[in-house]
Amino acid sequence: MPSSGKLAKVITSEIGLKSARRVIELGPGTGAITRHILEGMEPGTEFFAVELNEKMYETFKHKFPGVKIINENAASLRSIIVREGMQDVDLIISGLPWASFGAPLQRRLLLEITGSLAPRGIFTTFAYVQGLALPSARAFKRRLDKRFATVQRTPIIWNNIPPAVVYRCRK
Ligand SMILES: C[S@@+](CC[C@H](N)C(=O)[O-])C[C@H]1O[C@@H](n2cnc3c(N)ncnc32)[C@H](O)[C@@H]1O
Repeated sequence: MPSSGKLAKVITSEIGLKSARRVIELGPGTGAITRHILEGMEPGTEFFAVELNEKMYETFKHKFPGVKIINENAASLRSIIVREGMQDVDLIISGLPWASFGAPLQRRLLLEITGSLAPRGIFTTFAYVQGLALPSARAFKRRLDKRFATVQRTPIIWNNIPPAVVYRCRK
């Protein structure tokens, strides 16, 4: 199920989207969150999305002509950023399914994300409430706490299927 409008609104709120100059979205799928990111950004802000699944990538390109999307693994984020000539990313907004990733991929992705963010950059992502007790979801939260200066968890967004929480992580 694509994220609801409410979840998309929460994940793009209180992260300084208007003042951001460089923004990346990971795992946009069909673009439920992308729409809110694009609406919230000022003209001139650099943006691209990274989507691994080829079908999602094709759907996204059709829905958002002119918006840059790269059909690669977010685990290669730093080299993608170098290739794209973007530096010191202000915001990384993620729709990646963290609880379904094993420890090595979680670690690698978080290393790529923290290594790409500007000194006071923000990383934001969501987690489904039903999966919060899973060992992989708990390990993910511990890794966030270890790698970011602050990690804020929002109240549950009930108006999403399934209900979710958003993590806002400041470097
Ligand atoms: C739960 S869906 C979220 C889609 C959309 N952001 C939303 O909220 O509706 C996760 C997306 O992440 C993509 N994805 C999973 N692993 C990825 C990876 N390693 N790199 C880039 N995209 C990935 C999937 O193909 C899928 O489109």
